[in-house]
Amino acid sequence: MNRCMAISHLTEVATQAAKEAGELLARGLGTNFAMTTKEGRQNLVTEYDLASQKLIIETIKKTFPDHHFLAEEEDVHAHPSDQILWIIDPLDGTVNFAHGIPFFAVSIAAFMEKEIVCGVVYNPMIDELFVAEKGRGSTLNGNQLQVTKIDQFDKALLATGFPYNAFENPIHCIDRFGKMVAMGNAIRRIGVAALDLAYVAAGRFDGFWECSLHPWDMAAGKLLVEEAGGKVSHYDGSPHPIFAHVPILATNGYLHEQMVEILKGDLK
Ligand code: IPD
Ligand code: CA
Ligand code: CA
Repeated sequence: MNRCMAISHLTEVATQAAKEAGELLARGLGTNFAMTTKEGRQNLVTEYDLASQKLIIETIKKTFPDHHFLAEEEDVHAHPSDQILWIIDPLDGTVNFAHGIPFFAVSIAAFMEKEIVCGVVYNPMIDELFVAEKGRGSTLNGNQLQVTKIDQFDKALLATGFPYNAFENPIHCIDRFGKMVAMGNAIRRIGVAALDLAYVAAGRFDGFWECSLHPWDMAAGKLLVEEAGGKVSHYDGSPHPIFAHVPILATNGYLHEQMVEILKGDLK
C-alpha cells in the first residue's frame, strides 16, 4: 500500500471511530451519568469520557491491532516511536458536556513518520465532521475548507481557551487575555479546543490562542488549520512542537505576525 492509500485508510478508520463515539456522547448528554474530578476541581471526568475512549481504541484496534495510543484518560500514554501513534481526545469539551451544554467534540489524529498525517474532529450534535489529510487539504462534511483572508486585526474574530489552573496565571495567560480584550476585538471562549482549531480552518474564527494544550486537544485541529491554508506556531512564532506542553497560536496566516507581536515575550 502506498503512503497516500495508507493515510486514507487511517482516515477512514478514524472517521468511523469518531462517528461512533460521537453518537455515544450524544445519547449520553443530559442523562444521569457518573462524574469525578482530576487535577483540580474544574477538571471533570464523566463516565462518557471513559466510554468514548474505550470505544475509539477498540474500534481502531480491530483494524490496526499493533498501533500505539496516546489518549487523555486512564494513562493511555504511549510515546512517539516508529509505530503509528493515535492521539485521541474522546470528549473535548467535558465541562460543556457535564453541564448539559450540547457543544463538544471527539478528536482523533494519527501520527506517522514524525508528523500528523490525518486528523478528524467530529461534533455529533450538529453532525459536523472535519477531516484533514497531510498534503490533501481539510474538509467539512466533504466540502473543502479555506481559512479567511482577513488581514486587519481590528476586523478579526478571535477565540481562546484557558487551562484548568488558569487562576494561577500560568504563562501569564490572564495578562495576555487582558491585553487581547483591551485591543477591542470580539473574542469567543467555546470550551472545545479541537473545535476552536477546526473553526479557524473553516474560516469561522480568524485566530485562536491558548497557553497549555495537550497533544490530544490539538493534534487533529493543528493539521486541519495547516491543510486549510492557515498557520500554527508557538506564541513567539517558532514551530509548534506537538508533544511539548507549550502555547499554541493558530491563525489564517495573514494575522499571524500581528498576533505574535501581541502574544510573544515573557513565556515563563
Ligand atoms: C479542554 C477544552 C477547553 C480548553 C482546555 C482543555 P477537555 O479539554 O479543550 O476548551 O480550554 O484547555 O483542557 O478537558 O474538555 O478535554
Ligand atoms: Ca481536551
Ligand atoms: Ca477530553
